[in-house]
Amino acid sequence: MLSVTTATPAARRSAHFRKDVLDGLRAENKYLSSKYFYDETGDKLFQQIMACPEYYPTRCEMEIMQHQSGRMAQFFAEYSPSFDLIELGPGDASKSWFLLRELQKENAAFTYYPIDISSQVIGWLEDKLPVTLPGIHVRGLNGEYMEKMHQVNTFSPNRKIVLFMGANIGNMNVTQATQFCRQLHDHLQPGDLLLIGFDLKKNPRTILDAYNDRQGITRAFNLNLLRRINDELTADFDPDQFEHYPVYDPGSGACKSYLISRIAQEVHIGDKTIFFRENEPIYMEISQKYSLEETELMAVQAGFEPIHTFFDSKKWFADVLWQRQA
Ligand code: TRP
Repeated sequence: MLSVTTATPAARRSAHFRKDVLDGLRAENKYLSSKYFYDETGDKLFQQIMACPEYYPTRCEMEIMQHQSGRMAQFFAEYSPSFDLIELGPGDASKSWFLLRELQKENAAFTYYPIDISSQVIGWLEDKLPVTLPGIHVRGLNGEYMEKMHQVNTFSPNRKIVLFMGANIGNMNVTQATQFCRQLHDHLQPGDLLLIGFDLKKNPRTILDAYNDRQGITRAFNLNLLRRINDELTADFDPDQFEHYPVYDPGSGACKSYLISRIAQEVHIGDKTIFFRENEPIYMEISQKYSLEETELMAVQAGFEPIHTFFDSKKWFADVLWQRQA
């Protein structure tokens, strides 16, 4: 057998996937990592989720970027005439595009460094952005966030502005998110800026509906991970025997998705067998919601000072601008 170190990248990815799935399903409280949702079908389903009437976060943040990118660009240009603009997990950059355009209008001297785990995302951005934003300096970095932040620091002494938008920070719990911001702090210099998107606490039904759309796309999105495991790890999940169960706790702000085993059953993954009790949950993902005060507390704990908040018109979502303290 090939050892993991000599295997091809695809074989190595598949071995990681298998290990993560088995670790999760053998744990006392079963879980699967949401980072595996996004295969080709998962990407398509997520596009459909974003277009659902119930799924408000993308539209709210899009509104912020469409209407307030000018203000953001002014903040950035005042901070420094030249800087590195680093975006963590840019997606198709359809939201940050507005900001990039405003920065060009302001004649800001900046290089845009999108960092993403997907090489497709990076390649696509490097090809497409110069078409709609002529003259933009794009240098995509394919890899893990902190590793690539470190790399930018080794080849550029410029001041830094970091974007971490969308549902990104929400996909960590509060402790993990605070630690993550602390790590960002450690990769920045005093005075550098960080713009983070937070989905805010609001009517609990509005939040729950966003993770439980009527068309059942979010359900299909969760179940797709079982199909992916079947296809890629020769497993025999019957997705019909699992129920999509989202919950939102308005106290803690945690919105979690579970798949519940409808019956007692056995599932085979390669030569391994996993047992499910009737009604046993698999924890799939968290989307943490915050009050504005909670985001401010996180800023302070991670070594930043909040300097401005950009809201959508309903105040359902906030892009907060923080400055790194000494
Ligand atoms: N993680 C994203 C979010 O919190 C995307 C998402 C929407 C999602 N609905 C989901 C992920 C359901 C897993 C399960 O908004």
